[in-house]
Amino acid sequence: CSKSGSDAAAGNSGDSQLTVGFAQTGAESAWRTANTNSLRNEAEKRGIELKFADGQSKQENQIRAVRSFIAQGVDAIVIAPIVETGWDPVLREAKRANIPVVVMDRTVATSDESLYAAFVGSDFYEEGRMAADWLAENAGDRTNIVELQGEPGSAAANERRKAFADALAKHPNLKIIDSQTGNFRRAEGKTVMEAMLKTHGDAIQIVYAHNDDMALGAIQAIEEAGKTPGEDIMIVSIDAIKEAVQAVADGKMNCTVECNPLFGPKIYDTIEAILAGKPVEKKSYNKDELFDQTNAAAALPSRQY
Ligand code: AHR
Repeated sequence: CSKSGSDAAAGNSGDSQLTVGFAQTGAESAWRTANTNSLRNEAEKRGIELKFADGQSKQENQIRAVRSFIAQGVDAIVIAPIVETGWDPVLREAKRANIPVVVMDRTVATSDESLYAAFVGSDFYEEGRMAADWLAENAGDRTNIVELQGEPGSAAANERRKAFADALAKHPNLKIIDSQTGNFRRAEGKTVMEAMLKTHGDAIQIVYAHNDDMALGAIQAIEEAGKTPGEDIMIVSIDAIKEAVQAVADGKMNCTVECNPLFGPKIYDTIEAILAGKPVEKKSYNKDELFDQTNAAAALPSRQY
């Protein structure tokens, strides 16, 4: 492996194999597993050596992994930042070592945008807006929403929350009566929903979950409480994992906004371009769709995650 631009540009050809360090958040959701697999499979296809570090949902683990990648002299580093803040020192260390960093999936809040080479991911604000706009059109006479938030401090939770609240401001009939974190995890989504059902009972008419795993956990809690998800309580969520699209087709969930995790190819294209000295977009967003009763069943056969 080599860090020099020309050797790295040769990348995966000949004996100059590209080495990439990948600091993943963890394995909190089905989305995350699909994302990890996408980067792993594509690395294998291209003959890239991928050094994978599971952050186990702790930023300090990710920072330690990035420092270790720097010490090993990898050609490039990919970070899926668990939280938005606190990255500047380690990004500065990577920059000093001349190792480009591609921020993936979740954005970082930094005082110096030159500390990372590129961002590749979804527009979380747009996802939250799509979910809220869908509700505004389809909620009928339902008004009361409970929100299951993602990991506190993550760009995904911050943006999805803000976009949803901003959009609701235009629809004063819709209001959030409770909002708590389920950390993007199915089991926690279920526990939080159980507690909310105890507290609010029949007042809950809509669930807005920041990801499908929490929504699927909430569905279990709703069913165990003797209610019919999708009817008694409307469920709107984000990710469009296959299981959720199936739940929409089955009428247990009402809408899921896609957040495509399959960006392995785009990540390595970006890295290869950077190492070859070619210009890359500073921020590149995936295009995401929305699935509801009108298109979920038809989309199922081609869902890849
Ligand atoms: O950062 C993207 C979010 O993280 C996905 O929506 C969620 O499922 C994942 O864990």
